[in-house]
Formats: sequence, structure tokens, C-alpha cells
Amino acid sequence: MKVKYYGHSCFSIHTGGKALLFDPFISENPLAKDIDISSIEADYIFLSHAHHDHTADAIAIAERTGAKIIGIWEISEWAKRQGHENTHPMNIGGFFTFDFGTVQMVKAVHSSSFSDGSYGGNAAGFVISSEGKSFYYSGDTALTFDMQLIAERHNLNFAFLPIGNNFTMDITDAISASKFIKCNHIIGMHYDTFGYILVDHQEAVNQFNLSGKLLTLMNIGQTLDL
Ligand code: NI
Ligand code: MN
Repeated sequence: MKVKYYGHSCFSIHTGGKALLFDPFISENPLAKDIDISSIEADYIFLSHAHHDHTADAIAIAERTGAKIIGIWEISEWAKRQGHENTHPMNIGGFFTFDFGTVQMVKAVHSSSFSDGSYGGNAAGFVISSEGKSFYYSGDTALTFDMQLIAERHNLNFAFLPIGNNFTMDITDAISASKFIKCNHIIGMHYDTFGYILVDHQEAVNQFNLSGKLLTLMNIGQTLDL
């Protein structure tokens, strides 16, 4: 799987011959100013929740690429109201098999409303299985014991977890989460974008190391093969 980082919580993963894009927030992220948003490929756009720092560029990219938007029911309905009919609604706990692999929508502990105040359903995460590998994209979430259920059902090769604190888990809780989900390789997200969520990168990596876990903090624009 080829993973590319577009800043904040936005990644693309090329797998199963498809481009999966998660939580696009690029055009309004000063840290991602060097990303050419018109070059981003997407066959599917996953939206973990409605907050603007996860959905800002979703409709524009979906319209340009024709991508299918995957999100909880209320997010799918919102996308249709924006004029984008190509959506796939899910809800917490459900699995669906797409042409690139299987997706389970899982619980996140967070809020979810659009910038106009309209309801975005519950916040969610995704577990994706494709090409014989599985990864977890948690979205914005607190640490929760429910993460242990993910390890009951999935053998994760890597996971995307927030580490920025204030709005989500901090580094200490993200390490606990990595234990709950039984995953040794975490890719950090949701840090540094705003003044509230600045992270000392070396300190974060060292703390994960002390727990026997690998934390990868990707540079914006960087690609990894996983
Ligand atoms: Ni949020
Ligand atoms: Mn957020």
C-alpha cells in the first residue's frame, strides 16, 4: 500500500488498484500550501466526521474526480445536499466489501457537526482490509476501551491515530490505544495544524519507542510504502 500525507488528518492510500482519500483539509491548511490539490487522485473519499478540518475539500475533490464519498448516513445525506450523489452511507459496526477491499465503520468518541451547525451523525473511524493487509483510521477520537474490540476482529498492520491533544487523544493515550488495538506501527495525525495541538516530534517518537511502538510522523507531501 502506498500512503501519502497531505497534512492534518488527510492521507491517501493506493491499494487494490484504487485511490482512497481520508478527511481532506488542504486548501485552508497553511502547512499544506505546497500541495497541488488539483493533482490529488481519489476513487473513494472517507469522511470520519463532519468537522470542517476533515471535510473542507471533500466535495470539490469528489466533484473533480467522481469519487464515491463513504461516511456515516448523515454525512452521505449532506454530500447529496451539496450536489454530490455518488455516496455510500454506513453506520457504526457495519462492514461492506468494495472493489478494493472491505471496510468496517467503527466507533469514535468525538462530536460531529458541519460548520453551519447541522448534525453530522456520530463521529466514526474505519478499518480497511485490502491486499491481505489491514489498517485502522481512527478519525478524531478520545481513548476508549471499545478500541479493544478492533483487535478482536482485525490484525492491524498499521494505524492512523491522532496525537495532538486538546481535541483528541494525547501521545500517552495514543500509546494506550496502540496497545488496545494490538498494533505496533502508528502514523500520527491531527497535530501541529493549530496552536492548540502543537507536538514535540522527537519527544512523541521517543515516548512510543519506550513502549516498544513505532511512531511515524510523515512530512506533508511524503509517500511511504507499507
Ligand atoms: Ni473533529
Ligand atoms: Mn479535527
